[in-house]
Amino acid sequence: MFIKKLEHVAFILDGNGRWAKEKNKQRTYGHKIGMENIYPTILDAKNYGIKYVSMFCFSTENWKRPQQEVNYLMQFPSEIFSKKQQEKYLKEGIKVVWIGRRNIVPEKTRKALEEMEEKTKEANQIIVHIALDYGSFEEVENCFKIVFNDINSKKLSIEDFSINTVIDNLYTKNSPQIDLLIRTGGEKRLSNFMLLQLAYAELYFVDTYWPDFKKNDLKLAIEEYNNRNRRFGVIQDEK
Ligand code: IPE
Ligand code: MG
Repeated sequence: MFIKKLEHVAFILDGNGRWAKEKNKQRTYGHKIGMENIYPTILDAKNYGIKYVSMFCFSTENWKRPQQEVNYLMQFPSEIFSKKQQEKYLKEGIKVVWIGRRNIVPEKTRKALEEMEEKTKEANQIIVHIALDYGSFEEVENCFKIVFNDINSKKLSIEDFSINTVIDNLYTKNSPQIDLLIRTGGEKRLSNFMLLQLAYAELYFVDTYWPDFKKNDLKLAIEEYNNRNRRFGVIQDEK
């Protein structure tokens, strides 16, 4: 199928818990199957020629969940980025970039993500942002600390400050704006996810729970995206 410009797709992977509950299983089982769905989805995206994928895996607010669930979610990077998995990612040219706060997650989680980043840093077929301990508010706070430091040390003048200064200091600094956001699990909200990067994104909400989101669901989302008329605030037929 012909696809209009679609460089960057972001996912809010929601519904793991409800998916498990419907099957009379523990919520953590839903997370396990959900996290295992990340790699095949990246491959499907890659097959469409998508160059950037962002995945919301754990938010700055998710710490308030029961400890057992938080613990489970913190160990998923070492599972999905095991040595064996690293080879699979490398073979497909997948570069993994962790977006989010790095100083609170357990050491093991940080190591797994940083090792994956290091391992895949030269890969260039598709870039995947794993958002873990991520929230837009925290990202903006972090960004402004950098900017204020630069102003204090005279590296930057207030006159030269612009939205580009902000964008260049987000966790996604080297990535283009998001074209399409897909949220699974039926909720219709952004939950503090990549608010600045989503400025002109098309939003797609689907009831399917994340563990059930497969190749054909991505196809449906892209077909819908293809039918949207992106105008970016100007008057013209198609962009
Ligand atoms: C999404 O699934 C996974 C995370 C954001 C950690 P949920 O855990 O939010 O699943 P529901 O919404 O309770 O079904
Ligand atoms: Mg949820």
